[in-house]
Amino acid sequence: MKSFTCAVIGLGAIHMNHVRAIQALPDCRLAAVCDIDEEKVQADVQMLGCAGYTDYRTMLEQEDIDVVHICTPHYLHAPMAIYALEHGCHVLVEKPMGMNSVETAAMIQAAERSGKQLGICFQNRYNPTVRRIRDLIDQGVLGRFLSSKTIVSWNRDASYYAQGAWRGTWAQEGGGVLINQAIHTMDLTQWLAGMPIDVQAQTSCFRLQGAIEVEDTAHGYFHYADGASGVFYLTNAFGADDPVELDLVFENATLRLKKDLSIQYVDGSEEHMDDQSLVSGAKGYWGNGHATLIRDYYACLDENRPFPIDGPEAAKIIKILDAIYRSAATGNRISI
Ligand SMILES: NC(=O)c1ccc[n+]([C@@H]2O[C@H](COP(=O)([O-])OP(=O)(O)OC[C@H]3O[C@@H](n4cnc5c(N)ncnc54)[C@H](O)[C@@H]3O)[C@@H](O)[C@H]2O)c1
Repeated sequence: MKSFTCAVIGLGAIHMNHVRAIQALPDCRLAAVCDIDEEKVQADVQMLGCAGYTDYRTMLEQEDIDVVHICTPHYLHAPMAIYALEHGCHVLVEKPMGMNSVETAAMIQAAERSGKQLGICFQNRYNPTVRRIRDLIDQGVLGRFLSSKTIVSWNRDASYYAQGAWRGTWAQEGGGVLINQAIHTMDLTQWLAGMPIDVQAQTSCFRLQGAIEVEDTAHGYFHYADGASGVFYLTNAFGADDPVELDLVFENATLRLKKDLSIQYVDGSEEHMDDQSLVSGAKGYWGNGHATLIRDYYACLDENRPFPIDGPEAAKIIKILDAIYRSAATGNRISI
Protein backbone atom coordinates (compact mmCIF):
# COMPACT_ATOMS: atom_id res chain seq x y z
CA MET A 1 0.00 0.00 0.00
CA LYS A 2 1.11 3.56 -0.69
CA SER A 3 1.70 5.62 2.43
CA PHE A 4 -0.55 8.58 3.25
CA THR A 5 -0.14 11.55 5.58
CA CYS A 6 -3.49 12.49 7.07
CA ALA A 7 -5.06 15.44 8.86
CA VAL A 8 -8.34 15.81 10.74
CA ILE A 9 -10.20 19.15 10.91
CA GLY A 10 -12.82 19.49 13.67
CA LEU A 11 -12.01 17.73 16.93
CA GLY A 12 -15.53 17.24 18.32
CA ALA A 13 -17.75 14.26 19.05
CA ILE A 14 -17.14 12.26 15.85
CA HIS A 15 -13.47 12.93 15.17
CA MET A 16 -12.04 10.03 17.20
CA ASN A 17 -13.89 7.59 14.90
CA HIS A 18 -11.68 8.99 12.13
CA VAL A 19 -8.52 9.11 14.25
CA ARG A 20 -8.90 5.48 15.36
CA ALA A 21 -9.57 4.34 11.80
CA ILE A 22 -6.46 6.18 10.52
CA GLN A 23 -4.36 4.72 13.34
CA ALA A 24 -5.53 1.20 12.44
CA LEU A 25 -4.14 1.53 8.91
CA PRO A 26 -0.44 0.66 8.87
CA ASP A 27 0.41 2.92 5.94
CA CYS A 28 -1.40 6.00 7.22
CA ARG A 29 0.16 8.56 9.52
CA LEU A 30 -1.89 11.17 11.33
CA ALA A 31 0.36 14.19 10.78
CA ALA A 32 -1.84 17.02 12.07
CA VAL A 33 -5.14 18.01 13.63
CA CYS A 34 -6.98 21.33 13.55
CA ASP A 35 -9.74 23.00 15.56
CA ILE A 36 -10.52 26.61 16.44
CA ASP A 37 -10.64 25.46 20.06
CA GLU A 38 -7.01 25.60 21.25
CA GLU A 39 -7.71 23.28 24.21
CA LYS A 40 -9.02 20.54 21.95
CA VAL A 41 -5.97 20.94 19.71
CA GLN A 42 -3.57 20.67 22.64
CA ALA A 43 -5.37 17.64 24.07
CA ASP A 44 -5.04 15.80 20.75
CA VAL A 45 -1.43 16.89 20.22
CA GLN A 46 -0.56 15.41 23.65
CA MET A 47 -2.56 12.24 23.14
CA LEU A 48 -1.75 11.54 19.48
CA GLY A 49 1.75 12.99 19.08
CA CYS A 50 0.87 14.94 15.93
CA ALA A 51 1.10 18.62 14.99
CA GLY A 52 -1.77 20.92 15.96
CA TYR A 53 -3.28 23.99 14.31
CA THR A 54 -6.12 26.42 14.90
CA ASP A 55 -6.36 27.43 11.24
CA TYR A 56 -6.82 24.78 8.56
CA ARG A 57 -5.34 26.97 5.83
CA THR A 58 -2.11 27.37 7.80
CA MET A 59 -2.08 23.63 8.44
CA LEU A 60 -2.38 22.85 4.73
CA GLU A 61 0.34 25.35 3.88
CA GLN A 62 2.81 24.10 6.50
CA GLU A 63 2.20 20.35 6.38
CA ASP A 64 2.50 17.99 3.45
CA ILE A 65 -0.94 16.38 3.74
CA ASP A 66 -2.30 13.74 1.35
CA VAL A 67 -5.76 13.24 2.87
CA VAL A 68 -7.92 15.63 4.88
CA HIS A 69 -10.79 14.36 7.05
CA ILE A 70 -13.42 17.07 7.62
CA CYS A 71 -15.40 16.65 10.86
CA THR A 72 -16.66 20.21 11.33
CA PRO A 73 -20.17 21.72 11.48
CA HIS A 74 -22.16 21.44 8.26
CA TYR A 75 -21.70 25.00 6.97
CA LEU A 76 -17.93 24.46 6.82
CA HIS A 77 -17.98 21.25 4.76
CA ALA A 78 -18.17 22.90 1.32
CA PRO A 79 -15.60 25.71 1.82
CA MET A 80 -13.12 23.45 3.63
CA ALA A 81 -13.47 20.58 1.14
CA ILE A 82 -13.06 22.92 -1.84
CA TYR A 83 -10.03 24.59 -0.26
CA ALA A 84 -8.36 21.26 0.53
CA LEU A 85 -9.07 19.86 -2.95
CA GLU A 86 -7.62 23.00 -4.51
CA HIS A 87 -4.53 22.49 -2.37
CA GLY A 88 -3.98 19.03 -3.81
CA CYS A 89 -5.49 16.88 -1.04
CA HIS A 90 -7.93 14.01 -1.17
CA VAL A 91 -10.90 14.81 1.07
CA LEU A 92 -13.14 12.60 3.18
CA VAL A 93 -15.97 14.70 4.55
CA GLU A 94 -18.49 13.79 7.23
CA LYS A 95 -22.16 13.76 6.30
CA PRO A 96 -23.95 15.78 5.09
CA MET A 97 -21.78 16.44 2.04
CA GLY A 98 -23.00 20.07 2.03
CA MET A 99 -26.03 22.01 3.19
CA ASN A 100 -27.77 22.15 -0.22
CA SER A 101 -27.35 21.26 -3.89
CA VAL A 102 -25.60 24.53 -4.74
CA GLU A 103 -22.83 23.59 -2.30
CA THR A 104 -22.64 19.96 -3.43
CA ALA A 105 -22.38 21.05 -7.10
CA ALA A 106 -19.45 23.33 -6.25
CA MET A 107 -17.75 20.50 -4.34
CA ILE A 108 -18.20 18.07 -7.26
CA GLN A 109 -16.68 20.63 -9.65
CA ALA A 110 -13.75 21.23 -7.31
CA ALA A 111 -13.09 17.47 -7.08
CA GLU A 112 -13.24 17.13 -10.87
CA ARG A 113 -10.85 20.04 -11.37
CA SER A 114 -8.40 18.68 -8.79
CA GLY A 115 -8.32 15.07 -9.92
CA LYS A 116 -8.42 14.16 -6.21
CA GLN A 117 -10.96 11.88 -4.53
CA LEU A 118 -13.83 13.43 -2.58
CA GLY A 119 -15.52 10.85 -0.33
CA ILE A 120 -18.50 11.23 2.00
CA CYS A 121 -19.03 9.37 5.24
CA PHE A 122 -22.23 7.34 4.95
CA GLN A 123 -20.89 4.48 7.03
CA ASN A 124 -24.21 2.66 7.34
CA ARG A 125 -23.88 1.61 3.70
CA TYR A 126 -21.17 -0.75 5.00
CA ASN A 127 -23.39 -2.54 7.56
CA PRO A 128 -23.48 -6.24 6.59
CA THR A 129 -27.29 -6.27 6.53
CA VAL A 130 -27.37 -3.30 4.17
CA ARG A 131 -24.74 -4.89 1.94
CA ARG A 132 -26.83 -8.06 1.84
CA ILE A 133 -29.81 -6.07 0.54
CA ARG A 134 -27.66 -4.28 -2.02
CA ASP A 135 -26.22 -7.61 -3.24
CA LEU A 136 -29.71 -9.10 -3.66
CA ILE A 137 -30.78 -6.03 -5.66
CA ASP A 138 -27.64 -6.22 -7.84
CA GLN A 139 -28.22 -9.94 -8.44
CA GLY A 140 -31.75 -9.16 -9.66
CA VAL A 141 -33.25 -11.60 -7.15
CA LEU A 142 -35.83 -9.20 -5.69
CA GLY A 143 -37.61 -8.08 -8.85
CA ARG A 144 -39.24 -4.69 -9.25
CA PHE A 145 -39.19 -2.24 -6.34
CA LEU A 146 -42.72 -1.41 -5.14
CA SER A 147 -42.66 0.50 -1.86
CA SER A 148 -40.47 1.80 0.98
CA LYS A 149 -41.07 2.84 4.58
CA THR A 150 -38.36 4.77 6.46
CA ILE A 151 -38.66 5.50 10.18
CA VAL A 152 -36.15 7.25 12.42
CA SER A 153 -37.18 8.03 16.00
CA TRP A 154 -34.36 9.46 18.08
CA ASN A 155 -33.99 11.66 21.12
CA ARG A 156 -32.34 15.08 20.78
CA ASP A 157 -33.23 17.28 23.73
CA ALA A 158 -32.16 20.77 24.80
CA SER A 159 -28.86 19.49 26.22
CA TYR A 160 -27.92 18.08 22.80
CA TYR A 161 -28.53 21.41 21.06
CA ALA A 162 -26.58 23.21 23.80
CA GLN A 163 -23.44 21.22 22.86
CA GLY A 164 -22.67 23.53 19.94
CA ALA A 165 -23.92 26.94 18.80
CA TRP A 166 -24.15 25.64 15.22
CA ARG A 167 -26.73 23.00 16.11
CA GLY A 168 -30.38 23.86 15.57
CA THR A 169 -29.62 26.76 13.18
CA TRP A 170 -30.47 27.08 9.49
CA ALA A 171 -27.26 28.99 8.74
CA GLN A 172 -24.84 26.47 10.23
CA GLU A 173 -26.62 23.10 10.54
CA GLY A 174 -28.74 23.64 7.42
CA GLY A 175 -31.79 21.88 8.86
CA GLY A 176 -32.68 19.54 11.68
CA VAL A 177 -33.59 15.86 11.85
CA LEU A 178 -33.58 15.57 8.04
CA ILE A 179 -30.09 16.81 7.27
CA ASN A 180 -28.38 15.71 10.46
CA GLN A 181 -29.83 12.54 12.01
CA ALA A 182 -32.15 10.89 9.48
CA ILE A 183 -29.88 11.57 6.51
CA HIS A 184 -28.21 8.16 6.96
CA THR A 185 -31.44 6.18 6.69
CA MET A 186 -32.80 8.42 3.94
CA ASP A 187 -29.53 7.84 2.07
CA LEU A 188 -29.97 4.08 2.47
CA THR A 189 -33.53 4.40 1.17
CA GLN A 190 -32.21 6.23 -1.89
CA TRP A 191 -29.35 3.78 -2.39
CA LEU A 192 -31.59 0.72 -2.19
CA ALA A 193 -34.88 1.97 -3.68
CA GLY A 194 -33.51 4.53 -6.16
CA MET A 195 -34.26 8.20 -6.81
CA PRO A 196 -37.88 9.21 -6.34
CA ILE A 197 -39.55 11.33 -9.04
CA ASP A 198 -41.11 13.74 -6.58
CA VAL A 199 -42.04 14.28 -2.94
CA GLN A 200 -44.76 15.78 -0.78
CA ALA A 201 -43.68 16.50 2.80
CA GLN A 202 -44.34 18.39 5.99
CA THR A 203 -41.93 19.43 8.72
CA SER A 204 -42.56 20.59 12.29
CA CYS A 205 -40.73 21.58 15.40
CA PHE A 206 -42.69 20.13 18.31
CA ARG A 207 -40.36 19.64 21.19
CA LEU A 208 -38.02 22.64 21.28
CA GLN A 209 -40.22 25.23 19.57
CA GLY A 210 -38.63 28.65 20.03
CA ALA A 211 -35.35 27.14 21.24
CA ILE A 212 -34.19 25.78 17.85
CA GLU A 213 -34.87 27.14 14.37
CA VAL A 214 -34.96 23.84 12.51
CA GLU A 215 -37.41 20.93 12.22
CA ASP A 216 -37.37 18.11 14.76
CA THR A 217 -39.92 16.07 12.79
CA ALA A 218 -40.58 15.41 9.11
CA HIS A 219 -42.92 13.09 7.25
CA GLY A 220 -43.80 12.64 3.65
CA TYR A 221 -44.52 10.61 0.54
CA PHE A 222 -42.31 9.76 -2.45
CA HIS A 223 -43.54 8.87 -5.92
CA TYR A 224 -41.14 6.62 -7.83
CA ALA A 225 -41.16 5.52 -11.45
CA ASP A 226 -43.60 2.75 -12.44
CA GLY A 227 -46.08 3.67 -9.68
CA ALA A 228 -43.81 2.68 -6.77
CA SER A 229 -44.12 4.75 -3.59
CA GLY A 230 -42.37 5.52 -0.31
CA VAL A 231 -43.36 6.92 3.07
CA PHE A 232 -41.11 8.36 5.75
CA TYR A 233 -41.45 9.52 9.34
CA LEU A 234 -38.40 11.05 11.00
CA THR A 235 -38.21 12.63 14.43
CA ASN A 236 -35.78 13.81 17.08
CA ALA A 237 -38.66 14.32 19.50
CA PHE A 238 -38.92 10.73 20.76
CA GLY A 239 -37.68 10.07 24.30
CA ALA A 240 -35.15 7.39 23.32
CA ASP A 241 -32.90 6.36 20.42
CA ASP A 242 -34.67 3.53 18.64
CA PRO A 243 -32.96 1.42 15.98
CA VAL A 244 -33.85 2.90 12.61
CA GLU A 245 -36.37 1.05 10.46
CA LEU A 246 -36.36 0.51 6.73
CA ASP A 247 -38.94 -1.69 5.00
CA LEU A 248 -38.59 -2.37 1.31
CA VAL A 249 -41.25 -4.18 -0.68
CA PHE A 250 -40.14 -5.75 -3.92
CA GLU A 251 -42.02 -7.95 -6.37
CA ASN A 252 -40.36 -11.12 -5.03
CA ALA A 253 -39.74 -10.29 -1.36
CA THR A 254 -40.44 -7.97 1.55
CA LEU A 255 -37.35 -6.87 3.49
CA ARG A 256 -37.50 -5.47 7.01
CA LEU A 257 -34.43 -3.86 8.48
CA LYS A 258 -34.60 -2.90 12.14
CA LYS A 259 -31.11 -3.60 13.39
CA ASP A 260 -31.46 -7.20 12.12
CA LEU A 261 -32.64 -8.00 8.62
CA SER A 262 -35.64 -10.24 7.89
CA ILE A 263 -36.59 -11.19 4.36
CA GLN A 264 -39.83 -12.91 3.40
CA TYR A 265 -39.84 -14.19 -0.15
CA VAL A 266 -43.13 -14.58 -2.02
CA ASP A 267 -42.37 -18.29 -2.49
CA GLY A 268 -42.73 -18.68 1.31
CA SER A 269 -39.03 -18.93 2.16
CA GLU A 270 -37.47 -16.66 4.76
CA GLU A 271 -34.03 -15.31 5.56
CA HIS A 272 -32.81 -13.72 8.78
CA MET A 273 -29.52 -11.94 9.43
CA ASP A 274 -28.42 -10.61 12.81
CA ASP A 275 -26.49 -7.39 12.61
CA GLN A 276 -23.48 -8.07 14.79
CA SER A 277 -21.90 -4.86 13.57
CA LEU A 278 -24.18 -2.54 15.50
CA VAL A 279 -22.47 -1.95 18.80
CA SER A 280 -24.79 -1.59 21.76
CA GLY A 281 -24.77 1.27 24.24
CA ALA A 282 -24.15 4.95 23.67
CA LYS A 283 -24.19 5.98 20.03
CA GLY A 284 -24.51 2.35 18.93
CA TYR A 285 -27.28 3.46 16.62
CA TRP A 286 -24.67 5.38 14.57
CA GLY A 287 -23.46 2.01 13.40
CA ASN A 288 -19.77 1.24 13.57
CA GLY A 289 -19.02 1.31 9.89
CA HIS A 290 -16.59 4.24 10.11
CA ALA A 291 -13.58 1.95 10.29
CA THR A 292 -14.80 -0.14 7.35
CA LEU A 293 -15.66 2.91 5.24
CA ILE A 294 -12.34 4.62 5.96
CA ARG A 295 -10.41 1.43 5.18
CA ASP A 296 -12.24 1.18 1.86
CA TYR A 297 -11.59 4.87 1.10
CA TYR A 298 -7.82 4.40 1.53
CA ALA A 299 -7.88 1.15 -0.45
CA CYS A 300 -9.51 3.10 -3.31
CA LEU A 301 -6.81 5.78 -3.10
CA ASP A 302 -4.13 3.11 -3.00
CA GLU A 303 -5.49 1.18 -5.97
CA ASN A 304 -6.50 4.30 -7.93
CA ARG A 305 -10.14 3.26 -8.20
CA PRO A 306 -13.10 5.54 -7.51
CA PHE A 307 -14.47 5.54 -3.98
CA PRO A 308 -18.14 4.48 -4.31
CA ILE A 309 -19.62 7.23 -2.09
CA ASP A 310 -18.21 10.12 -4.10
CA GLY A 311 -19.61 13.60 -4.71
CA PRO A 312 -22.27 12.74 -7.30
CA GLU A 313 -23.42 9.76 -5.20
CA ALA A 314 -23.68 11.64 -1.89
CA ALA A 315 -25.26 14.68 -3.56
CA LYS A 316 -28.33 12.59 -4.46
CA ILE A 317 -29.72 12.64 -0.93
CA ILE A 318 -29.08 16.39 -0.66
CA LYS A 319 -31.15 16.84 -3.82
CA ILE A 320 -33.95 14.85 -2.18
CA LEU A 321 -33.68 16.84 1.06
CA ASP A 322 -33.77 20.13 -0.88
CA ALA A 323 -37.06 18.97 -2.43
CA ILE A 324 -38.46 17.88 0.96
CA TYR A 325 -37.66 21.26 2.51
CA ARG A 326 -39.18 23.05 -0.48
CA SER A 327 -42.32 20.92 -0.33
CA ALA A 328 -42.67 21.61 3.40
CA ALA A 329 -42.23 25.35 2.81
CA THR A 330 -44.65 25.63 -0.11
CA GLY A 331 -47.16 22.84 0.49
CA ASN A 332 -46.51 21.64 -3.08
CA ARG A 333 -45.50 18.33 -4.59
CA ILE A 334 -41.88 18.97 -5.62
CA SER A 335 -40.18 17.24 -8.52
CA ILE A 336 -36.70 15.88 -7.77
N1 LIG B 1 -21.36 9.73 10.45
C1 LIG B 1 -21.95 9.85 11.65
O1 LIG B 1 -22.61 8.92 12.12
C2 LIG B 1 -21.81 11.12 12.39
C3 LIG B 1 -22.06 11.16 13.77
C4 LIG B 1 -21.90 12.39 14.45
C5 LIG B 1 -21.54 13.53 13.74
N2 LIG B 1 -21.34 13.45 12.40
C6 LIG B 1 -21.01 14.65 11.60
O2 LIG B 1 -19.69 15.07 11.94
C7 LIG B 1 -19.60 16.48 11.87
C8 LIG B 1 -19.15 17.01 13.23
O3 LIG B 1 -20.10 16.64 14.21
P1 LIG B 1 -19.74 16.60 15.75
O4 LIG B 1 -20.90 15.98 16.42
O5 LIG B 1 -18.39 16.01 15.93
O6 LIG B 1 -19.72 18.18 16.05
P2 LIG B 1 -19.00 18.92 17.27
O7 LIG B 1 -19.71 20.23 17.43
O8 LIG B 1 -18.88 18.00 18.45
O9 LIG B 1 -17.53 19.17 16.71
C9 LIG B 1 -17.25 20.08 15.69
C10 LIG B 1 -15.86 20.63 15.91
O10 LIG B 1 -15.52 21.50 14.82
C11 LIG B 1 -14.78 22.58 15.37
N3 LIG B 1 -14.76 23.72 14.46
C12 LIG B 1 -15.72 24.66 14.26
N4 LIG B 1 -15.30 25.57 13.37
C13 LIG B 1 -14.06 25.20 12.99
C14 LIG B 1 -13.10 25.75 12.08
N5 LIG B 1 -13.34 26.87 11.39
N6 LIG B 1 -11.91 25.12 11.96
C15 LIG B 1 -11.63 23.99 12.66
N7 LIG B 1 -12.50 23.43 13.54
C16 LIG B 1 -13.70 24.03 13.69
C17 LIG B 1 -15.49 22.87 16.68
O11 LIG B 1 -14.70 23.65 17.56
C18 LIG B 1 -15.75 21.48 17.20
O12 LIG B 1 -14.70 21.00 17.99
C19 LIG B 1 -20.99 16.97 11.43
O13 LIG B 1 -21.02 17.08 10.04
C20 LIG B 1 -21.90 15.85 11.88
O14 LIG B 1 -23.12 15.78 11.16
C21 LIG B 1 -21.45 12.28 11.73
